[in-house]
Amino acid sequence: METIEFEHPVARDILTNIRNRNTRPDEFRKLAYRLGLLLAVEATRNRGTSPVSVETPMEKTLGEKCNNHPVIIPVLRAGLGLLPPFQEMLPDSPVAFIAMRRDEKTGKAEWLYDSIQNLRGRDVLILDPMLATGGTAAGVIDYLIEKGVEEITLVCIVAAPEGIHRLQEYENLTIITVSVDRELDDNWFILPGLGDFGDRLYQGNK
Ligand code: URA
Repeated sequence: METIEFEHPVARDILTNIRNRNTRPDEFRKLAYRLGLLLAVEATRNRGTSPVSVETPMEKTLGEKCNNHPVIIPVLRAGLGLLPPFQEMLPDSPVAFIAMRRDEKTGKAEWLYDSIQNLRGRDVLILDPMLATGGTAAGVIDYLIEKGVEEITLVCIVAAPEGIHRLQEYENLTIITVSVDRELDDNWFILPGLGDFGDRLYQGNK
């Protein structure tokens, strides 16, 4: 397992604004979109390409086309906040949905729903903006490995050291995050974090 803390001044600027408790949901969604675009670039940095020829208005030249399109898997609900920018950057990627729910008393992930078809030999991008205990992510990753996926990239905005530690046993996993934060609190929320990502996206606590 490899963890990449995405180092970019624009990403740090957006992260500061998205952390701010006074950022309202419409602005929060826009900031999540912008961070998603940056993360989509980073998450696809090592994808292979094949040479193709292209005719410019001036002459024929050699270009490149991306091989194999990774399957995008947003983990409901929060992962939906990163789906639009990933679809924007990867228009030919299929999308499959996974829903798990974290029991707020135990911190454990419960299985709810998936729309996953054939993943054998595919590379996947899991979108889960807040990596806290790693319980949900581990549940999703185990399920995807059972389905025969090849390479897994877990895309987060903020990750807790506890969650990264929990996932270190997975060999074919790369975690990409804008920030590795300090720790989890007693309710498994990330500190300093940004609160409940899903609630802030969808006004779930109103
Ligand atoms: N999920 C969130 O939305 N926020 C946290 O801090 C932890 C899990």
